[in-house]
Amino acid sequence: MSRLQQGISKLNSLSNQGSSLSRLSSPSFGGNSTVGGGGGKNLEELKRQIHSKLVERLDLSRVKDLASDAMRRDIRRAIEHLCDTENPLLNRIEREKLIEEILDETLGFGPLEPLLKDPTVSEVMVNGPRKIYVERRGKIEKSEVTFRDNDHLLQIIDRIVSKVGRRVDETSPLCDARLPDGSRVNAVIPPIALDGASLSIRRFGATPLKLEDLLNYKAFTPEMAMLLEGAIKARLNTVISGGTGSGKTTLLNTLSAFIPGDERLVTIEDAAELQLQQDHIVRMETRPPNIEGKGAITCRDLVKNALRMRPDRIIVGECRGSEALDMLQAMNTGHAGSMTTLHANTPRDGLARLETMIMMAGTELPIKAMRQQISSAVDLIIQVNRLQGGPRKMVSITEVMNMEQETIIMQEIFRFRQLGVDQNGRAFGQFEATGVRPSFVQRLEQKGIKLPSNMFTERVLARD
Ligand SMILES: Nc1ncnc2c1ncn2[C@@H]1O[C@H](COP(=O)(O)OP(=O)(O)OP(=O)(O)O)[C@@H](O)[C@H]1O
Ligand SMILES: [Mg+2]
Repeated sequence: MSRLQQGISKLNSLSNQGSSLSRLSSPSFGGNSTVGGGGGKNLEELKRQIHSKLVERLDLSRVKDLASDAMRRDIRRAIEHLCDTENPLLNRIEREKLIEEILDETLGFGPLEPLLKDPTVSEVMVNGPRKIYVERRGKIEKSEVTFRDNDHLLQIIDRIVSKVGRRVDETSPLCDARLPDGSRVNAVIPPIALDGASLSIRRFGATPLKLEDLLNYKAFTPEMAMLLEGAIKARLNTVISGGTGSGKTTLLNTLSAFIPGDERLVTIEDAAELQLQQDHIVRMETRPPNIEGKGAITCRDLVKNALRMRPDRIIVGECRGSEALDMLQAMNTGHAGSMTTLHANTPRDGLARLETMIMMAGTELPIKAMRQQISSAVDLIIQVNRLQGGPRKMVSITEVMNMEQETIIMQEIFRFRQLGVDQNGRAFGQFEATGVRPSFVQRLEQKGIKLPSNMFTERVLARD
């Protein structure tokens, strides 16, 4: 019998004998066993008290092994017994609520659980046990929630990452993982994190943003969406460029809905975040090296492999390094309509970033040949930025043209121009058509995609 099972049966037998558990009371929570039913605050105290007794008795570090329903039932029973001995006066609803909350604390994500259940929270950032920030509607705010101490935080981090078969410890203190609900998790623990463990959870889970949501948020205008729909249907190669957390992956996800259902797609990601709706799709995820530094499967390995899988389009979640070269080659060789994202602040920077990444592949290509390759592979760069105060906007749709001498020529079709900052510190501005008619319009027309004739007339499309 494991220590945990021993703990559970001991608890159960203690309660069955009607033994007073008061001697188990936890000093950290005051051990007040005279809590009356009803009051929210009292319930909170009772909850902590019961939980800490459970924690004292059970080796909760082993809870991660407890996938089984039977074990969960046993723990639940232990909590029920504790609950009834500690305060038999609770009504049924209160008792059920209390038990659920303690189960969350024991088997779920503890203090993070209410944040993760809150649909308005899009990101949770933990900087050590006492500082937890959340993002709601683009605004970052400090949360009331805290962990008891660093150990408590580490325990929850361990539980989160071990759920998906990863681990963090002193020898591998960094971890990137994806939760079963699609959320992305990054954890860094001491000694690398200096002020206690750090945890970031990006929630895609429950309700990924759809095109209508982004239009409602004024992230771009219907004209821009229409152009992008045409571009994707006509199989233009597209790069989404943006800073950290600017909404690149979200946009890639949303735009992928325009890909016709009869095409074969291969997606490649470090931590799978994309939720493509198409049927004919092969999803692949890279693998970090194991503890001996072996067994890594890189993004580049996967792009190379994808080329042998007969895909119509290849979608790389994010280009960070040498895989960019293979991706561009794929774009140039019969996989038109491929898409990726990269980190850069402007479309021009995006091109420079591609050059750097190609160099990382260790090729001896002269710079001009490299640019040639980029300009013939990439048709469109969509730039997204997170502006001051939180709004995320598509700030530019830019066509990549040909080369003139050593330079790649680009032309901007639509853009967002920031006009100022409102009294809440939020940037505002207007979307504009620059008056440029993209040269790929013909390609769209050949595919039967007709855009309104005044689509590209120079004008203001919308104002915040
Ligand atoms: N237009 C938008 N309006 C409001 N929220 C958005 C918008 N686009 C994305 N978000 C939210 O912003 C967060 C970051 O989005 P996303 O993961 O797509 O960014 P990213 O650029 O891919 O980030 P990273 O650089 O970390 O990969 C998510 O929580 C997402 O739901
Ligand atoms: Mg991303």
